[in-house]
Amino acid sequence: MKKLMFTIGIALAIGSCQSTTEEKSTAVGLDGWLEGTSEEKFEEVAHQLGGYSRTMVEVGYRYSELYWAAMDENWGYADHQIEHIIEAMEDGLKRRPVRAASAEDFMNETLPYMESLLEKEDKEEFLKGFQIFTSACNACHAKEGESAIMIQLPLNRTSPVRF
Ligand code: HEC
Repeated sequence: MKKLMFTIGIALAIGSCQSTTEEKSTAVGLDGWLEGTSEEKFEEVAHQLGGYSRTMVEVGYRYSELYWAAMDENWGYADHQIEHIIEAMEDGLKRRPVRAASAEDFMNETLPYMESLLEKEDKEEFLKGFQIFTSACNACHAKEGESAIMIQLPLNRTSPVRF
């Protein structure tokens, strides 16, 4: 009996030692929606951030806004959009580095070109440049096997921002 108690005691001691090294799994977030180990939580958060399609939805919106900003000659709003297109692209490529090779020209040439074009604050010049910009979107779509996603100049405003 004494021996048995001793064995149980040792087993409990080892058990408690192990549980201190094992990670405690606590749920966080509203109503504890984010559960599991830290690794599982990070995986879930990474999934929630979304992939390249999420980036493109944002870039598509900002592309349209950039166009209407220039049509309004609202160059401050146009600058705002190009800055956020750059940021969205950079963040998207961080999450999906497999897309980076196809995006190289767009990142290194097209975006700086559009930035310098906006500095001119010239609507006619912008219109010509915007065609080049649009072709660069489609060139990457072709490289990525997404030719079905054809970008063309926006026809209608979808946001309430006016100048
Ligand atoms: C990496 C090169 C690349 C560049 C540069 C690029 N795209 Fe894309 N785009 C993609 C890929 C890849 C997809 C499909 C993403 C997916 O389904 O995961 C996509 C999808 C889209 C979609 C569909 C999003 C959806 O799921 O509804 C839109 C809209 C879009 N792109 C707009 C643009 C615009 C506008 C530009 C230029 C300002 C642009 N893209 C530049 C690669 C690119």
